[in-house]
Amino acid sequence: SEAAVMDLKKIIRSIPDYPKTGIIFRDISTLIAHGPGFRQAVRQLAAPFLDQKIDKVVGIEARGFIFGGAVADLLGVGFVPIRKQGKLPGEVVGQDYELEYGTDRIELHKDAIQPGERVLLLDDLIATGGTASAGVDLVNHVGGEIIAAAFVIDLPDLRGADLLREKDVQVHTLVAFEGL
Ligand code: PRP
Ligand code: MG
Repeated sequence: SEAAVMDLKKIIRSIPDYPKTGIIFRDISTLIAHGPGFRQAVRQLAAPFLDQKIDKVVGIEARGFIFGGAVADLLGVGFVPIRKQGKLPGEVVGQDYELEYGTDRIELHKDAIQPGERVLLLDDLIATGGTASAGVDLVNHVGGEIIAAAFVIDLPDLRGADLLREKDVQVHTLVAFEGL
């Protein structure tokens, strides 16, 4: 018999006042520790792309690796990491992005994606969209074609998914938490 569809929102733990007062941290560690919940999340992330030609899944360090690796396996394609600055040993392209205070930088191996390859970008969560937008820019920079970006969690009030859609990126999310 087929397993019932779970409400993933209920398996994601919310921790108030982390990392600071007034912020509710949406903690995926309880979801990925839940076998059937994690499996459902991975299948739902991959579902729209099972009948599309995807060449690579690109995941963003660190939490994007957990879902990205599993989705790549399910689609039967390779996984490519985007890492925080200074972690990749080969020739890289880098992109700065905005944090609440200051900026950070992510990098991608120049030869990890061939020109024209069709890419699915994966991360656990989209908030302001700064991280994912920088990831899209990196993939485009090395000649890859972003087919879509997929996230377990959307924080729609922070408008990150809208930002990506304005860049003509198709956005796929599983659960939304209103508020900040
Ligand atoms: C979190 C989250 C996303 C990003 C979303 O990562 O995993 O990658 O923030 O925020 P944004 O849409 O406002 O850019 P974080 O930088 O905390 O690092 P981690 O994944 O390494 O824990
Ligand atoms: Mg992250």
